[in-house]
Amino acid sequence: MATNKVSSTPLMPKERLELLDKAWSEAAELYLRELAPRFDPWFQLAVAELKTHNLPEGPVLVPCCGPGQELLPLHALYGGRRRVVGLDLSHGMIDLAHAAIAAAGADTTSTRSSDARTAEQQPQQPQQPQQPQQPQQPQQPQQPQQPQQPQQPQQPQQPQQPVEAVVADATALDAFGPAAAVVSVFGLQQMGALAPAALANWGGCLAPGGVAVVVFWPSRVEDRGPWLTFDQVLLEKAAAERGQPPPPPDAAAAAGPLAWEVALTEPLRAEAAQGRAAGEGAAGEDGGAQASGVEVLVDRLQAFDMMWPSAEFFWKVMTEGGPWRARRLAQGDAVMADLANRFAAKYGGMGSEQYGSAPLSHRPAARVVVLRRCGGGGGGGGGAARPAAAGGAAAAERQAQGRGELSAL
Ligand SMILES: C[S@@+](CC[C@H](N)C(=O)[O-])C[C@H]1O[C@@H](n2cnc3c(N)ncnc32)[C@H](O)[C@@H]1O
Repeated sequence: MATNKVSSTPLMPKERLELLDKAWSEAAELYLRELAPRFDPWFQLAVAELKTHNLPEGPVLVPCCGPGQELLPLHALYGGRRRVVGLDLSHGMIDLAHAAIAAAGADTTSTRSSDARTAEQQPQQPQQPQQPQQPQQPQQPQQPQQPQQPQQPQQPQQPQQPVEAVVADATALDAFGPAAAVVSVFGLQQMGALAPAALANWGGCLAPGGVAVVVFWPSRVEDRGPWLTFDQVLLEKAAAERGQPPPPPDAAAAAGPLAWEVALTEPLRAEAAQGRAAGEGAAGEDGGAQASGVEVLVDRLQAFDMMWPSAEFFWKVMTEGGPWRARRLAQGDAVMADLANRFAAKYGGMGSEQYGSAPLSHRPAARVVVLRRCGGGGGGGGGAARPAAAGGAAAAERQAQGRGELSAL
């Protein structure tokens, strides 16, 4: 089927891949130090969501794993008995992930077995209850001895599985599925218009009963805060360059979502509808077509507080250790200097006490999407993703002016 062909091949254009590889590799260490801890509440949310599901056999795939700080906790969550594979296009990020895996090598062995019983959510080999101790018979020589209780046979321990991190374009995971779970935090927005196809591919690469928990930044994450301020700055700069009057102060807040966000789950929903139609009258208790479909269980926003020592520090982290490093590489230092000045002006200006040392707090909201592949006859990895463009034309009308893909967080 043509759609399979489209979905099973990584989709990101070479130039974008190379730009992001360079930008994220240069950003990796600062990202790990400053952004990863601030993003951690959303990862914990993803873990909590994952824990509510009984997973089938298979690995846990972590597309866009960045420096890999999520890999060892996910490995421990399943007692080390599931292979965990992180994927990221950035060589520098994957180098950090390898270092973390190597450094934790000895520790994982010691924590794995203790974590297993509390964390593993999938149907486990039930622990054999301890045989209650036979009460001691009073010493009566003429009584025949109680026969010894036979030892319960030991349940075979599932073998320990590795944690891996590989450099790969994670827009298609076919080479790594079928997966018990896909967990991706703050990577999907980096894919821009490719995100709907990528998400559909991730759903298609789940084993029957498998679950994908995907958290990402929408184009507007807050009603008030430095990310919204940056969007406003972008709109103001774009207007100035076109020789137009400045946009209203609430222009960024009023901007609509990007086309791909609106169309995000369309390929999945279309696939499920197609499956239902094709499966009408099919044999099987679950209706046949349902067995290969992917349901959207959750699609909502979740906000957490975030704190910075100053707006200046925020700017430094975002442009040197975060997603705006790619903008710097693509557009050059002069453009970034102009943006820096415009951004600083919103906080009292470059060199001001307010910009340099007033603490900054905000409460951004990320979008949380949870998918589950229907159980039964589906078999993972075949992917059923449709091209991202499907049904997106009307939504494209709503795309906010001045918001390029590079403004993605
Ligand atoms: C904001 S970081 C998120 C890292 C980590 N998941 C976290 O929550 O801290 C985004 C990562 O996505 C990666 N990325 C973006 N597009 C990708 C793609 N098509 N394939 C693989 N990785 C990608 C980037 O290299 C970067 O490391």
